[in-house]
Amino acid sequence: MEAVIKILFIGDIVGKPGREILQERLARLRAELNLDVVIANGENAAAGSGITGAIAKSLLATGVDAITLGDHVWDQRGWEDEIDDFPTVCRPANLPESNPGRDHVILDVKGFKLAVFTVLGRTFMGLKGDCPFLGADAMLKKLEGKADGALVEIHAEATSEKIALGWHLDGRAVAVLGTHTHVPTADAGVLPKGTGFMCDVGMTGPYASVLGREVAPVLGRFLDGMPRRFEVAEGDVRISGALVEYDPVAKRAVKVQLITVKRAGGR
Ligand SMILES: [Fe+2]
Ligand SMILES: [Fe+2]
Repeated sequence: MEAVIKILFIGDIVGKPGREILQERLARLRAELNLDVVIANGENAAAGSGITGAIAKSLLATGVDAITLGDHVWDQRGWEDEIDDFPTVCRPANLPESNPGRDHVILDVKGFKLAVFTVLGRTFMGLKGDCPFLGADAMLKKLEGKADGALVEIHAEATSEKIALGWHLDGRAVAVLGTHTHVPTADAGVLPKGTGFMCDVGMTGPYASVLGREVAPVLGRFLDGMPRRFEVAEGDVRISGALVEYDPVAKRAVKVQLITVKRAGGR
């Protein structure tokens, strides 16, 4: 087993701009950063809401090894019938067991069996899962003997809930990485017992926007309260994610840092 495993965890892919920048840049980024594995949240990949089988297939073809999902998991009709066909795609683990799809993925990373799963937070979230703290505990127990370590995604709105989960899992997870707010935070690091942490890894999509959507309709909605269509924006497209370097012998994350890649000639 090599000394350090390099994991890139990419935040919520938003619409076509998010998919396109991965197509253009991910292969090169894998080589530049000497990445061993790439995981991406695809909950906004289809026109900003949800994912489809065709889109999942195209993301996996760009060099994403596993796809996770969030509260928008079931936004695209038909995906509930397709998700089971994808062994490297998982839906949030703390949804009712009757939900289709896998609750985790296990990837072989240079001989290290890396489990990946997502828990949804409950504070200020529309789609409510079971308790993410007890849910993560249950998943880690279920993975004992099946995986060498787990990367836990906390898909949540409240920074407090995300940080608390980091502390709860410190020493028991490879990393706890946040998604859902689409805004990267400046707190990437390693907790005292060796779990990598970042409150939110940001989105992969257009940053000249409000969380990936065109500014004018969102702003208009705030100004007059009238409903509008929120189309996916186009400007300032970036890949955003967390690079986790993990030492499988010491069983500790060594480093976590924000990775930002801007589209060439970006507007
Ligand atoms: Fe999202
Ligand atoms: Fe979300």
